Amino acid sequence: MDNAKLILNGQEYEFPTFAGSEGEVGIDFAALRSQTKAISYDPGYGNTGSCSSAITFINGEKGILRYRGYPIEQVAENASFVEVCYLLIYGDLPNREQLESFQHDLTYHTMIHEDMKKFFEGFPPSAHPMAILASMVISLSAYYPGANDPENIDLNIVRLLAKIKTLAAFAYKKSIGQPYVYPRNDLSYTADFMHMMFAVPAEPYQVPDVLERALNLLLILHADHEQNCSTSTVRMVGSSQADLFASIGAGICALWGPLHGGANQQVIQMLEMIQADGGDYQKYINMAKDKDSGFRLFGFGHRVYKNFDPRARILKQSADEVLGALGVKDPLLAIAKNLEEITLKDEYFVERKLYPNVDFYSGIIYRAMGIPTDMFTVLFALGRLPGWIAQWKEMRDDPKTRINRPRQIYTGATERSFVPLNKR
Ligand code: CMC
Repeated sequence: MDNAKLILNGQEYEFPTFAGSEGEVGIDFAALRSQTKAISYDPGYGNTGSCSSAITFINGEKGILRYRGYPIEQVAENASFVEVCYLLIYGDLPNREQLESFQHDLTYHTMIHEDMKKFFEGFPPSAHPMAILASMVISLSAYYPGANDPENIDLNIVRLLAKIKTLAAFAYKKSIGQPYVYPRNDLSYTADFMHMMFAVPAEPYQVPDVLERALNLLLILHADHEQNCSTSTVRMVGSSQADLFASIGAGICALWGPLHGGANQQVIQMLEMIQADGGDYQKYINMAKDKDSGFRLFGFGHRVYKNFDPRARILKQSADEVLGALGVKDPLLAIAKNLEEITLKDEYFVERKLYPNVDFYSGIIYRAMGIPTDMFTVLFALGRLPGWIAQWKEMRDDPKTRINRPRQIYTGATERSFVPLNKR
């Protein structure tokens, strides 16, 4: 491939180009500033590649998503979440022995230090579970010092994957004032989480198969999505050589925002508002189109997908199946489908290529499963964890990694003399 040429102030500069395995082209601007004294300006990094990565491929124009080369549709149909964790983190599908050993490790590291229960007691009952989850994940660093030592990395990966569901379920139990339910080693990853969420000491609890399957699907669909806001945060924090727990804790905070993982909670609140307004869809569509309203249709639009989000397609179908199997009739499902139909014909959304994203139908499934609204983003975090870990590990092992440190174009005051307070 030819070099790229840039003409600046009449002078020509050349920059090397390279292509990825799917033909995507990059221009290597690493020497841009040293050669030209100029920097590239790209707020929101819409055109900026911060790394090369072999984990996840997305073609937003065609609606393609693949984990390590495997189409998301095939992974969602056939895999267990634990298998997907292994695939993303270690690069290939595990054989039976590798899977059993990994599953065993994830089962026998689920307990948290008893002292950590005191942390939960310190939070007010109204605390958002994302605040608790982020704090708890970072706190794991205090219990496993030396987390950055190469010989501890694999063990800490297992610890984090195993313990995060215990931390998430404890955060929920704390918020409703029920006793914590300890993990059980005879249950699968997903069933164990549901058990810790919904079991109470007074009676036996059997996790319904449909819930286990639905959670497995949801976690798989959220497992990685290349360089999104939270993943880039994990890589950025990790680039300073902060340890795994600190880097992932930062990623959890980034995920929390309503434009990212927090959108699933916002979608349900928006659908409830439409319901309370007697199904006045147009009012909300008009508000979303009005830039002064500050309102957006949550669960719509995506930086990368300009066709459809394949995860939303799978979830729309799954919403019908899960609600049917659970015998749940949720009027919000019909409202969501109507909203989608009307929106997809609206010129504003068509022109801007805005389609439902992963957050649009996930909340309806979580609701049917009995998950409270403010736990939705926590479930997103549980699903995204293997992706964050895989990306953190790849960043760490990449010899090209340097501390992430973007530049800026300064637009403030030029030099002026300081005036002491008594003279101002
Ligand atoms: N409702 C109304 N208008 C929208 C929406 C929306 N949901 N999304 C984008 N637009 C408009 C936007 O106003 C802009 O219009 P114009 O060209 O006239 O200025 C145009 O579409 C392009 O949008 P953008 O904000 O420049 O796009 P972005 O790539 O910076 O933002 C996004 C992507 C996902 C943050 C945005 O689409 C959005 O805010 N969506 C709602 C929140 C949401 O559902 N987030 C979940 C994303 S998927 C899961 C995840 O990653 O967490």
